[in-house]
Amino acid sequence: MRDEGPTARDDTSRGTAGVLELRDVSKRYEADGPAAVDGLTLEVPAGEVMVLIGPSGCGKTTALKMINRLIEPTSGSILIDGRDVRERKQSELRRDIGYVIQQVGLLPHLTVAANVGTVPRLVGWNKDRIAARTRELLDLIGLDPDEFGPRYPSQLSGGQQQRVGLARALAADPPLMLMDEPFSAVDPITRERLQNDFLRLHRAVPKTVVFVSHDIDEAVKMADRIAVLRDGRLVQYDTPAALLAHPVDDFVADFVGADRALKSLGLRRLEEIELMDAPVAVVGEPVADVRARIASGETRPIGGELLVIDPSRRPLDWLSLERLEGEDTVPARPPGGAEPVVDSVATLRDALSALFEANAVSAPVVDGEGRLIGLYGQDEIAAIFSPENQAERV
Ligand SMILES: Nc1ncnc2c1ncn2[C@@H]1O[C@H](COP(=O)(O)OP(=O)(O)OP(=O)(O)O)[C@@H](O)[C@H]1O
Ligand SMILES: [Mg+2]
Repeated sequence: MRDEGPTARDDTSRGTAGVLELRDVSKRYEADGPAAVDGLTLEVPAGEVMVLIGPSGCGKTTALKMINRLIEPTSGSILIDGRDVRERKQSELRRDIGYVIQQVGLLPHLTVAANVGTVPRLVGWNKDRIAARTRELLDLIGLDPDEFGPRYPSQLSGGQQQRVGLARALAADPPLMLMDEPFSAVDPITRERLQNDFLRLHRAVPKTVVFVSHDIDEAVKMADRIAVLRDGRLVQYDTPAALLAHPVDDFVADFVGADRALKSLGLRRLEEIELMDAPVAVVGEPVADVRARIASGETRPIGGELLVIDPSRRPLDWLSLERLEGEDTVPARPPGGAEPVVDSVATLRDALSALFEANAVSAPVVDGEGRLIGLYGQDEIAAIFSPENQAERV
């Protein structure tokens, strides 16, 4: 976890994940109409991400909004850490439950920083603490606090607005987060970044999360458990691996789709596989040192090229050996030439797509700070399908 310095939580109740229980919860919008949610019973263990998935109109949003009482159930009960939500004030629930929606819902007349600080202000944090927390969160979601903090929502792209929506929901460190298709309004590349950012945040500070999606790949990537809904009823509640391996009926099998072997690539992450060492050359390093490493076999160029990294190990560009002729030191390169650069929390499915899309043989893998960890190609991914690795998984 990050050192939060002077902003560290003083109220210890916050930030701890809670158990969420739904007991036979139903919702009818009209007394004699059909049930939008029908006898839903499930438990989300503390700190887990539960993805609610199912076709349009199956009751996902209704189920979510009953948890923070934006909608009242017709029958049944909902408990957080054993306590019925009906015993709690709306204002208290708003503070303790982070809520992220597709439409983002940032307040247009407030700056980005003020939007992020909404809940901390509500619960009476002092100005310095709010400012420090806001900076920390903007940093965390990859937006420079000095540049983006003073802007208004209309001065951001859709993806940036969604990231601010996420930061705002996280601001007071709620133990429970409700996320309704939070990343669906952005392009696939931004969505993947947001998913990876979220997974990293969740690791640093685990929270109980209910995440609505209609995308099975997103569900497999994000979830500890997946709940499949149909016409308001729960048809299967399982881990992503169990859901892919054993769909309970044809409806779930259809929903999961035919290419289950390919989808199972979504269950593994780059950080779990053995990566290649990258043939690196550090900006400013004497070229003679690079040549010595190549001669000793320590550095093995790929296709006659080296990966140039900056002194903080961030990948910049690929450079051919010929380009080092006549240079004393490794020249600086503008960043971008090393793309695709893939986050180590990316799934093998995302990693494979990145290679295909860029028509690349291999790609650098980086950690949360963008520092190089290694390199992967199709072979490293294919290796997990080798007989010995398959045996290991059973
Ligand atoms: N305020 C409302 N009044 C009456 N019926 C409603 C209301 N809100 C939702 N419904 C109905 O309840 C059912 C479930 O809706 P809900 O919004 O929960 O579905 P969803 O799974 O979130 O769908 P989507 O994937 O399209 O967002 C639908 O049949 C919908 O028409
Ligand atoms: Mg919905």
